Amino acid sequence: MAKLWYLGHATFYLEGKGVKALIDPFLTGNPWKIAKPEDFKELDYIFVTHGHGDHLGDAVEIAKNTGATIVSIFEVCQYCQSKGAPNVHPMHIGGSYNFPFGRVKLAPAAHGSSVIEDDRVITLGSPCGVIIEVEGRRVYHAGDTGLIADMELIGKYEDITVALLPIGGNFTMDIKDAAIAAEMVKAEIVVPMHFKTWPIIDAEPEEFKALAEARGVNVEVLNPGDELEF
Ligand code: NI
Ligand code: MN
Repeated sequence: MAKLWYLGHATFYLEGKGVKALIDPFLTGNPWKIAKPEDFKELDYIFVTHGHGDHLGDAVEIAKNTGATIVSIFEVCQYCQSKGAPNVHPMHIGGSYNFPFGRVKLAPAAHGSSVIEDDRVITLGSPCGVIIEVEGRRVYHAGDTGLIADMELIGKYEDITVALLPIGGNFTMDIKDAAIAAEMVKAEIVVPMHFKTWPIIDAEPEEFKALAEARGVNVEVLNPGDELEF
């Protein structure tokens, strides 16, 4: 069995045969306070969907501490490398690659991707979602995104086991659009994320669950700190 550990917001730890990974490792300053960067001593990969601080988070520090490879959009990888990340694997949207544990594919996301340095905004290419194969099953972390028609293609061709979808609104899909997305991606299990971290994304996961279940979707609401085996 592979497992996902929800660290609050859009941050997950993923462990399965041959892989220990973090996805969007926002730990320092994460109001949910489930884990700290130094809690991760053995890590193979860090997947980053875009440059915003609540996703790139502690990626560079954890990569330096553990030697984990940062897997992301080319420009995010370049940025991380310039900050001292020892190992990066740049990819781009629609591209996939067979890692030793399974195939990884970057998916489109409708959002932005930037970091701020010395009061200047630096754009780091396109944001993305990521599909990670582990133990022959596939996790789709949608990153931050609005509802996009590409999710139909994911549902039709990518055979998703667990979909992690943002529901908080304002920066991403709200519960109504996320319920439509959940129907489109046709995952065995849909897990809502990116809600209640701050008042501006104060969405109710149980309301999302009701809307998605009315569309025939199986929803598992995780509280920060919860684990899901799949
Ligand atoms: Ni963002
Ligand atoms: Mn975000």
